[in-house]
Amino acid sequence: MNTLLLSNSEKDIYIAAKIIKNGGIVAMPTETVYGLAANALNGNAVKKIFEAKKRPMDNPLIVHIGETGHIKKYNLVSEIPEKATMLAKHFWPGPLTIIMKKSEVIPDEVSAGLDTVAIRFPSHNTAQQLILASDTPLAAPSANLSGSPSPTNAQHVFDDMNGSIDAIIDGGTSDVGVESTVITLAENPPRLLRPGGITLEQMEKVIGKIEVDNAVLNKLTEGQTASSPGMKYKHYAPKAKVVLLNGNDEKFIEFINKNASCEIAAICYDEDLSRLSVESISIGGKNDYNAQAHNLFNALRKIDTIKGIKIVYAHCPKTTGVSMAVYNRLIRAAGFEVTSLEKL
Ligand code: TXA
Ligand code: MG
Repeated sequence: MNTLLLSNSEKDIYIAAKIIKNGGIVAMPTETVYGLAANALNGNAVKKIFEAKKRPMDNPLIVHIGETGHIKKYNLVSEIPEKATMLAKHFWPGPLTIIMKKSEVIPDEVSAGLDTVAIRFPSHNTAQQLILASDTPLAAPSANLSGSPSPTNAQHVFDDMNGSIDAIIDGGTSDVGVESTVITLAENPPRLLRPGGITLEQMEKVIGKIEVDNAVLNKLTEGQTASSPGMKYKHYAPKAKVVLLNGNDEKFIEFINKNASCEIAAICYDEDLSRLSVESISIGGKNDYNAQAHNLFNALRKIDTIKGIKIVYAHCPKTTGVSMAVYNRLIRAAGFEVTSLEKL
């Protein structure tokens, strides 16, 4: 298949919308990461997303809408909980996905057989324009090959998807850099399934207590079922092995320099760069948590472009605010392997 490379001009968005209307699949920029979009109400079109990504069919997709009113317009859910209305008012359009009980219009391919559907109203202009021009909600997972880090620019999408999708819209670099926060309101109390740009603390101010699903910060134990099927898969992993180091900055530098070799790299903070004696990629200032989220996936992808790297060490992030999202992604990239520097 020839993959069309499009700009985010009105004319190109129109071309992309036409592809979607004809049952094709298009990568689009959003404020979180790039998504691979198809008509959410067309099961056959949605199937193509799973094939292109090599995604397991039991992992449901997020339905993207172009305004809050589209939930009712397209009759996407069986009931809109009051807390969903409150969250939507505060955080939409933006990096928040809300899970509700689905209606019968949602194809099984989208919900992967669950009785719920995940809905998000993205704030990115191009994504909004594409949804409106396509005249339908768009099902869109992140536009990477299943298991690899999510794409935060059009080049990342091209690297993973060239030849297996109809088109890529280039809309520059994604702002947030990690995927949306996912919360389920299909049960009481609400539960956080995936941390992202909208933080737990921000949402609790609006709707009160939210449970944090065990799998957000911990490894699922054998036999435990994942509330969010995506959480059970190994994710975000470069080919090199990722190991998180838990300890203060001095110990981080000391440990890496002591073990330095050309097979070792570090994902670090700006402040560490001049002090590390291995190949190092900074994800931002030590206290600039938004920058760390913004740069994380690009750093994970970059590691594999450095020849010979077998192990990459990274700081173990905090678990509050936006850092909860960075921790959640890194701990999966690391297969939950954390080395404590305090004991060394
Ligand atoms: O920021 C984002 O959310 C991006 C952009 C493109 O919007 N999309 C994205 O989609 O990250 P994806 O498919 O890579 O991640 C969606 C996550 C998966 O872990 C999936 O299992 C979960 O949301 N999910 C989707 N529908 C669900 C449902 N009905 N119940 C539980 N989890 C669900
Ligand atoms: Mg994904």
